Amino acid sequence: MIIYYYSSTGNSLYVARFLQERLPDVELRSIPEELNSGIFEVQADKVGFVFPMHYLSLPLQVEEFLEKVSFKESPYLFAIATCGVPYWGRPFLDMNAILAKKRRQLHGAWFLRLVSNYLPYRDTAAEWRISIRAWLAERKLKGIAKAIAQNGHHDTWQVLRDMCQRICPKGNIVRPDGHPVWQHNCVECLGCLHICPVEAIDYAGVTKGRRRYRHKDIQPKELLHDFKGEIDP
Ligand SMILES: Cc1cc2nc3c(=O)[nH]c(=O)nc-3n(C[C@H](O)[C@H](O)[C@H](O)COP(=O)(O)O)c2cc1C
Repeated sequence: MIIYYYSSTGNSLYVARFLQERLPDVELRSIPEELNSGIFEVQADKVGFVFPMHYLSLPLQVEEFLEKVSFKESPYLFAIATCGVPYWGRPFLDMNAILAKKRRQLHGAWFLRLVSNYLPYRDTAAEWRISIRAWLAERKLKGIAKAIAQNGHHDTWQVLRDMCQRICPKGNIVRPDGHPVWQHNCVECLGCLHICPVEAIDYAGVTKGRRRYRHKDIQPKELLHDFKGEIDP
């Protein structure tokens, strides 16, 4: 397995090393060094990319490398984006758009919340917060390592699109320009209202600000009528 990493303050390098220690036969390669080397052909049965989220997407050099890389085999492809705030961002959508030009797609994609190093926005988090994030990240990483070992398929909900449309049991929602439009066939299950990640759906003006609910043992994607994959570790 080859893991390409990009890291300026160590979060992503820590993740890459964590996986190297727990998975068999992992070689780590630095993306800036690969860009300098000019060699872009990769041959491995699994190929991973670990990088920080930058401006809700990919760091420029990661994007440049992805455009250039070519895969000799049909490897299992995964990506992990380390970040400060995982709730927004489209690094995996952007990555899949680049990979699609090579007729590839990610099999596994995970956000891993660590600590933001984006000082222009705000000061570095307090030590106690850094410790909690590190503990939570390690717990999540153990599950990710297990999933990668089994070539597990995994989307994050940030990658799941059209959730309101896909949860509706009556096919009542269409999104011609991205915004949901109801087709007067609603059976009032409220699935769309509860699943929307940005709480854009409201019921007659009365549900604004009320907490959305989902059973703790059920992941959003399991509720989508076209869900066929595996659940998260
Ligand atoms: C230029 C820049 C832009 C960033 N943009 C985001 C962002 O959009 N969302 C986020 O959660 N974190 C953002 N961050 C924080 C990093 O993603 C986060 O700290 C990451 O874990 C750093 O990984 P590294 O130590 O491997 O470089 C940004 C950091 C930099 C330097």
